Amino acid sequence: MKIAVVGTGYVGLVTGVVLASLGNDVICVDKDREKLDRISKGQAPIYEPGLEELIQRSLSDGYLRVSDSIIDSARASDIVFIAVGTPPAEDGSPDLSAVREVAAEIAAGIESYTIVVNKSTVPVGSGDLVANIILSKGVPADRFDVVSNPEFLREGSAIRDTLEPDRIVIGAKNPEAAQMLVELYAPLNCKAFITDLNTAELIKYASNSFLALKISFINALSQICEACGADVGDAAAGIGADSRIGSAFLHAGLGWGGSCFPKDVRGMISTSQQFGYDFRLLKEVIDINDSQVARLLDRIENRLGGFAGRTVALLGLAFKANTDDIREARSLILIEHILGRGGKVQACDPVAVDVVRRFYPDVTYCHTPYESVTGADAAVVVTEWNEFKQLDLARIAGLMKQPLMFDGRRIYSREKAERAGLEYFAIGSSAPNEAPLPT
Ligand code: UGA
Repeated sequence: MKIAVVGTGYVGLVTGVVLASLGNDVICVDKDREKLDRISKGQAPIYEPGLEELIQRSLSDGYLRVSDSIIDSARASDIVFIAVGTPPAEDGSPDLSAVREVAAEIAAGIESYTIVVNKSTVPVGSGDLVANIILSKGVPADRFDVVSNPEFLREGSAIRDTLEPDRIVIGAKNPEAAQMLVELYAPLNCKAFITDLNTAELIKYASNSFLALKISFINALSQICEACGADVGDAAAGIGADSRIGSAFLHAGLGWGGSCFPKDVRGMISTSQQFGYDFRLLKEVIDINDSQVARLLDRIENRLGGFAGRTVALLGLAFKANTDDIREARSLILIEHILGRGGKVQACDPVAVDVVRRFYPDVTYCHTPYESVTGADAAVVVTEWNEFKQLDLARIAGLMKQPLMFDGRRIYSREKAERAGLEYFAIGSSAPNEAPLPT
């Protein structure tokens, strides 16, 4: 099929490249010429395992090209995906201006029957909004259909998630348009759920909100575990073994960040508000998430007797492993707080250092975890990178000024850490030593 994908962020680029790898003629569209140049040279503009190889293969097979013209690309395509950003506005509701602009330009390119697919994460009613914009530009109603096809890929495993999805959700008014999408995805051998536009849009928000709720639930439990001396890892294993609950997304720690959960939970709350429901449960989900990092900072601050004149090593900056994305990363809250109270930060990350450096030039950036803990008063595990899991903890303890380790992602075992000479605190397992250290 002839496909255009407007927007070359995570969702757009991965979708475009995967569809090209399945043998479709795909045009990836963006107004950022620099990004397009990189893609057309076979380079991935974002860090995502496997993406660059797939771009190169699709380019050399002749299935992938790039364009900065939405109008021309829409004209040349049977199906046009909208995959542009919907960042949160001040009040938490998503800003749909990019979706609106793109819809208007697509309308200008439609000459024959075209399916316009909304892949951006959008609130209920956005499918109708896009259809109305296209109609308002004079495109006859029988010349296009709007379909909602939300995306469930995760950063860091985006290619695999797209090639092997758990489910494909298609929301459409016209069953024939839905069927076109079913055919497009047929090579993935995955069940497609066909529903109406509003339900498809709601499924996306509700899925991300539910996953965030699951994490906040286990994080709330982690606070109780610390108080009563229980272990949240064992508790999560015991709870998750119930197949009705499941073990995924029950890993306690510093909480969720990234470009999706924070935005979509707030989006779900604002959508609910719009339809007359006060989703208080999700407000609490956000509060619990915020409290995880705040509590850890309090613990470190108490033990160090304040941050002034202290050096804290951060192991990890990205919002999660296998990405250089730092949007709503917990590391940024830690950096702001520690620097703001007169402390110093020495940080490392396998891929996200350059991105953070632009915003926080006062942090000392290090090449290795060993370098970042050297002379530090405390170390914090912020991101669960595999690269940090097998570190020589005795060496870490030896390099630090005070061998204090705060594990915000629970990647080490207490026995191992303590045997290595570290004073070790992991979120969700027993109370930390709160006695202030001498300055
Ligand atoms: C999330 C969803 O998982 C995807 O299905 C969805 O497509 C995507 O948002 C989106 O809407 O685009 P992503 O934000 O890439 O994907 O990352 P996740 O793997 O879901 O992790 C989100 C956050 O939760 C991270 O900060 C991670 O560290 C944290 N997390 C995850 C936990 O703290 N505990 C867990 O058990 C799992």
